[in-house]
Amino acid sequence: MSEWMNALSLTKPVIQAPMAGGLVTPSLASAVSNEGALGSLASGYVSPISLEQQIIEMQQKTNRSFQVNLFVPEERETPEAGVFEKWKASIPMADEAQPFSILEEDWKDFEEKVELLIRFRVKACSFTFGLPPEETVQKLKDSGCFLFGTATTAEEAAALEKRGMDAVVLQGIEAGGHRGSFLPAKGEPALGLMALIPQAADALNVPVIAAGGIFDHRGVQAARCLGADGVQIGTPFLLCEESSASPAYKQAIAEAEGADTRLTSLFSGKQARGIVNQFMKTYEAEEENTLPYPLHNTLTKPMRRHALQSEDADYMSLWAGQSAGMLKGLTDVKTVLSELCRS
Ligand SMILES: Cc1cc2nc3c(=O)[nH]c(=O)nc-3n(C[C@H](O)[C@H](O)[C@H](O)COP(=O)(O)O)c2cc1C
Repeated sequence: MSEWMNALSLTKPVIQAPMAGGLVTPSLASAVSNEGALGSLASGYVSPISLEQQIIEMQQKTNRSFQVNLFVPEERETPEAGVFEKWKASIPMADEAQPFSILEEDWKDFEEKVELLIRFRVKACSFTFGLPPEETVQKLKDSGCFLFGTATTAEEAAALEKRGMDAVVLQGIEAGGHRGSFLPAKGEPALGLMALIPQAADALNVPVIAAGGIFDHRGVQAARCLGADGVQIGTPFLLCEESSASPAYKQAIAEAEGADTRLTSLFSGKQARGIVNQFMKTYEAEEENTLPYPLHNTLTKPMRRHALQSEDADYMSLWAGQSAGMLKGLTDVKTVLSELCRS
């Protein structure tokens, strides 16, 4: 058994991906942890008070390890003059959008969440969108928390190892949801797992976890063959009865064909992979002109909220990885994990 699994008392080399946006509840994450894999709570877009409630619920539902995922706050870019007004007039319901958070508030939110993890002795924490500050790393390590960073290139993986991460999640271009890229690249920070895993595994001394497009035991074995010490799985868990993805979202994944997903910035201003829907088609020509994250994300929020309430998959962000075409219907955590770990 790998050391990272030992450290977290896991019996399966699988992490259920943290999936922000109300998709992961303690019901899903605790079911994963109770099966011997690592369940994850997503703290993105969740207030510290709600996160505290989720951690309490999680600790009531499992006594095994779980992790909490944190977004590292990012420097804000200022949009060009007139672009904000243009999008506000164009995106459905954008005039209802608020609040527009500022960077200082994001850091306060981040630090409050770190304190919660320490107070509740959460066993593991993962970061995405950047390098956590050194003091945060030190504080969490002092509390015994195991740390994962997210990288999309070997350079980012090396920077995360240097910052003190105990393991690095390698996010391939196949992955559903937002790209965790945070360092500039000479070419495209858009590597497939086949290229990324060996590059990072050879460069790092800490374990690497492969994420993106994996849905069955063949993907797990391929990732391990390339040098991964474990896998992080998102999209397949969305179809579980324990997930709180809406029926329309689950249906869109179940009906998706192999090439129905693509990267888009249209929902948030940051590249993310999702199933192509009407909103993405309508604004396709504007793909390069979105507002910076998180401004664009805030502007599309009322539209996405309304789409969720009315089960309208054409205006939701249907984040999904390239495995979507292979996922055919409702399932449950136990079945997903036994398929992944079948030999
Ligand atoms: C709906 C959805 C939401 C996601 N939200 C997060 C998140 O909050 N934090 C994070 O680190 N990764 C997030 N991810 C990315 C996952 O950690 C992981 O890289 C991805 O799910 C792996 O690809 P797969 O979905 O093909 O398995 C999200 C992915 C999806 C599909």
